[in-house]
Amino acid sequence: MKALKKIVALTGAGISAESGIMTFRDSGGLWEKHEVREVASIEGWRKNPQLMLRFYNERRKQLEGVEPNAAHHILAELEKKFDLTVVTQNVDNLHERAGSSKILHLHGELTKARSSTNPEWVVDIGYRPIEWGEKAPDGSPLRPHIVWFGEAVPMMSQAAEAIALADMVLIIGTSLNVYPAAGLVEYAAPQAPIYLVDPNEISYPGREIITIREKATVGMEQLKKILTEC
Ligand code: APR
Repeated sequence: MKALKKIVALTGAGISAESGIMTFRDSGGLWEKHEVREVASIEGWRKNPQLMLRFYNERRKQLEGVEPNAAHHILAELEKKFDLTVVTQNVDNLHERAGSSKILHLHGELTKARSSTNPEWVVDIGYRPIEWGEKAPDGSPLRPHIVWFGEAVPMMSQAAEAIALADMVLIIGTSLNVYPAAGLVEYAAPQAPIYLVDPNEISYPGREIITIREKATVGMEQLKKILTEC
């Protein structure tokens, strides 16, 4: 039995846009009317933890009411023909709900909470809010299991390894603005083709990238045809 070709799909907020979840930088740099750093950074947490708890409680509630879109489903379907790993910057669970089985969340997961002192203590909370004053068993405040600006990205080495071994890399719906995630493209093997799906012009210096200037649901249909012919 021939080994399946390895594909890594690096996804960002754009793949969830057609599910109704706002991207970070499409609306003049505000995320749901907030400056990203105010609601997605460790200094924001220290300054105003109640605002951040409220913000992520709203995001979690919204997530309960949206569905994966065709782009998420196409990625899940591609697992029938490829050994496909999703490396996502998204904290939503739409890849899981579409049926993808190998997913690395670089920036955490909205449906999980963790201890503020021990990043290893993580609990699944589904879509429920985290109430102000809730504590982890170690007595520290319970916080969203999200990687905020100013914090380390624990999954980076796993993601870099997966990309380095990939026969092909897909980049879907990310402005490649935020490091270290954006730097993962550098780990792609020189001979691995890189496809990028985004309705806007995304420049990435240094690598030849085949761009499909479409929104994810349209671009992924085209990409599926290209991939299933090879
Ligand atoms: N289909 C595909 N791509 C889309 C669509 C769509 N329907 N709509 C918008 N996009 C593209 C935009 O053109 C943009 O390139 O999605 C990208 C979204 O970019 P960002 O808003 O910067 O989101 P992302 O790249 O995921 O941000 C990375 O920044 O704030 C942090 O941690 C947060 O994970 C996030 C990280």
